[in-house]
Amino acid sequence: MADVRIRPVNELDIEAICRIDERITGTYRPEVWEDRVVYFIRRDPDSSQVAEVDGKVVGFMLGEVRGGEFGMEEPTGWLEFFGVDPAARERGIGRRLTDALLALEKRLA
Ligand SMILES: CC(C)(COP(=O)(O)OP(=O)(O)OC[C@H]1O[C@@H](n2cnc3c(N)ncnc32)[C@H](O)[C@@H]1OP(=O)(O)O)[C@@H](O)C(=O)NCCC(=O)NCCS
Repeated sequence: MADVRIRPVNELDIEAICRIDERITGTYRPEVWEDRVVYFIRRDPDSSQVAEVDGKVVGFMLGEVRGGEFGMEEPTGWLEFFGVDPAARERGIGRRLTDALLALEKRLA
């Protein structure tokens, strides 16, 4: 498989995320993903990531790193929405996306 690049999500990725979600759920939901992506970028711009292969977004992960909740002192990653294009699955892309969140959690610890 071509090189996979993991990078922070931005608002230009919303259309690609909608298309991946459509392939997973069968429903095209631009307003839902616009709201979600904008919310996560505003809350924590470093945590949410996309995976690109040959410049095309094939996976996304929306989440954040928070600390001090439920009696936890250390930063903890929260993964809220996570999807990989069915054609790109089972090649480690989901793992790479979650690893990026865990790496950020460790950097902040
Ligand atoms: C869940 C999902 C993101 C995984 O993406 P992926 O790129 O295929 O994942 P990876 O190839 O990195 O696999 C990660 C691990 O999950 C396992 N896995 C992946 N697909 C699996 C399946 N269908 N059944 C069982 N295990 C599976 C892999 O074996 C791997 O385990 P390992 O690292 O211990 O070997 C993808 O299947 C998906 O988009 N599913 C639909 C949406 C969804 O369920 N999202 C989560 C809730 S928001």
